[in-house]
Amino acid sequence: MNNLFGGPGFTVRPVTDDDIPSVLEVYRRCEDFLALGPVPCTSLEMVTTDIAHSKEVGGFYCGIRDDTDEIVGVLDFIPKYKRGRAFLSLLMIASAHRRRGLGTALLAALESHLMLTAGAKVIESGVQVNNEAGISFWKKRGFRIGRRARHMADGTTAYQMSKHIEMPIP
Ligand SMILES: CC(C)(COP(=O)(O)OP(=O)(O)OC[C@H]1O[C@@H](n2cnc3c(N)ncnc32)[C@H](O)[C@@H]1OP(=O)(O)O)[C@@H](O)C(=O)NCCC(=O)NCCS
Repeated sequence: MNNLFGGPGFTVRPVTDDDIPSVLEVYRRCEDFLALGPVPCTSLEMVTTDIAHSKEVGGFYCGIRDDTDEIVGVLDFIPKYKRGRAFLSLLMIASAHRRRGLGTALLAALESHLMLTAGAKVIESGVQVNNEAGISFWKKRGFRIGRRARHMADGTTAYQMSKHIEMPIP
């Protein structure tokens, strides 16, 4: 198992072709979130397009696995998006696994991973203006959310956001 990193009760590693059916299942269980965007219904094509795009831009498209190795979420990020800056492209946790602290623990582990392996000092990302739960999550996790929304190429409207990251004092 080539896990990239992990935390309490979860591990994260890039998906393989064998994982695609499980990833599609996660997308299906995130249709509440996908409904906020331009393509509300999931498809195999959506998943394979996202994975291929991630590869093209130097991303790591990963499954978030629980302690039974089941994929319960997906995480896509570019460790060296710009100098000292990483980009978080996608974080989606299947509805039944939300609000139990997984997103928070995952983000903390990702921050450490990015600092140690890519020398990242800042994480950038975007959040759709109509994703109230997402905005609440990122704000609580220390992201600063830009005031001006931007129209994105995929038809959505999103705020840019970023967070300065640093190693916790032991
Ligand atoms: C956003 C997301 C990754 C958070 O993961 P999680 O495991 O639920 O997060 P945690 O349990 O660690 O933290 C939950 C916090 O998220 C926010 N949140 C999550 N769901 C929420 C909801 N339905 N309404 C309001 N706030 C919500 C709150 O700030 C909440 O804190 P609280 O429980 O103290 O009120 C997850 O809800 C998800 O995958 N949502 C759908 C996809 C998505 O919106 N991704 C982000 C795109 S920018």
